[in-house]
Amino acid sequence: MAVAKSIKMYLTIFVATTCIYMVLYQYHLSRQPIPQPEYIVKPPLYIITPTFRRAEQLAELTRLGYTLKHVVNLLWLVIEDANQTSPLVIHTLNRIGVPYEYFLAPMPEEYKKAKKTKPRGVSNRNRGLEYIRANATSGVFYFADDDNTYDISIFEQMRYTKKVSMWPVGLVTQFGVSSPIIREGKIKGFYDGWIGGRKFPVDMAGFAVSVKFLHERPNAKMPFKPGYEEDGFLKSLAPLNLTEIELLASNCTEILTWHTQTKKNANAAALNVSTYGDTNLVELNKFLVRT
Ligand SMILES: *[C@@H]1O[C@H](CO)[C@@H](O)[C@H](O)[C@H]1NC(C)=O
Ligand SMILES: *[C@@H]1O[C@H](CO)[C@@H](O)[C@H](O)[C@H]1NC(C)=O
Ligand SMILES: *[C@@H]1O[C@H](CO)[C@@H](O)[C@H](O)[C@H]1NC(C)=O
Ligand SMILES: *[C@@H]1O[C@H](CO)[C@@H](O)[C@H](O)[C@H]1NC(C)=O
Ligand SMILES: *[C@@H]1O[C@H](CO)[C@@H](O)[C@H](O)[C@H]1NC(C)=O
Repeated sequence: MAVAKSIKMYLTIFVATTCIYMVLYQYHLSRQPIPQPEYIVKPPLYIITPTFRRAEQLAELTRLGYTLKHVVNLLWLVIEDANQTSPLVIHTLNRIGVPYEYFLAPMPEEYKKAKKTKPRGVSNRNRGLEYIRANATSGVFYFADDDNTYDISIFEQMRYTKKVSMWPVGLVTQFGVSSPIIREGKIKGFYDGWIGGRKFPVDMAGFAVSVKFLHERPNAKMPFKPGYEEDGFLKSLAPLNLTEIELLASNCTEILTWHTQTKKNANAAALNVSTYGDTNLVELNKFLVRT
């Protein structure tokens, strides 16, 4: 009898203890913060990419697009210098699957007539700024041309830009790199094979700007001035003191963006339709820029 009684007592204690532990454990779980997905926590990135029709256009957009696919909470603003939307560009962007907006921004006629260098990509980038002014409230924007090479870690670094951030760009001019010159942690000038009287002799791929900072400068935009686009835009962000510029890529000691340029490809020769009119080559023809 006594044995049965003590078994019953131990069982009661065991069950009671287990219940208390379970209740405590549930309470503990309910106190844990629910993990937020990365894309909610991280500030948004707006990537402004000018593009125009040429033999290598779809190849460049494909390469850049799959780079951007590794980056969360990003909106890709693809802006084409054209009068009509290109079904092939839209097809390519849809295939890649990076969230995007596609706009047109033809270069004004007066600049098309320029005999020498044309201010390419300016109307596109200004259109991107217009989108940001109208639709973005926080985060950071960056001008990413479609022909450059980007290490994706630069996107995670630029995401937290408070005003303007800068970093080196490889393969620019005969110096091989364009970079702020840093001495004792401060910008002491700029290293670039072509200074050209610029206050900010930097490459388009070498800086990012906070959306809030842009909103505080309602007149900031890019000038139609070949060679002076970056400088003109950064100057239009005044007041901007060099001491306020945030240095990325480990205080400008690493190259995470490269100003690669694709070899200019000739347009493809016309397809001989009488020979190939009933073959797959007719379909492939759509992807090529023909003479
Ligand atoms: C857009 O249209 C204008 C006027 O018709 C023309 O001059 C210009 O070349 C066109 N632009 C492009 C990129 O096709
Ligand atoms: C703002 O975003 C909407 C929705 O995507 C778009 O239709 C509109 O064109 C954008 N505004 C500007 C100025 O780009
Ligand atoms: C960059 O330089 C600053 C100032 O010298 C220093 O405080 C900081 O730790 C450096 N950051 C990196 C990533 O090297
Ligand atoms: C930039 O800021 C530094 C430190 O705050 C100051 O000494 C300098 O005068 C400023 N330069 C300009 C052009 O405002
Ligand atoms: C197209 O191919 C046909 C048949 O081979 C040939 O007779 C014709 O000259 C070709 N046309 C051109 C433009 O090359």
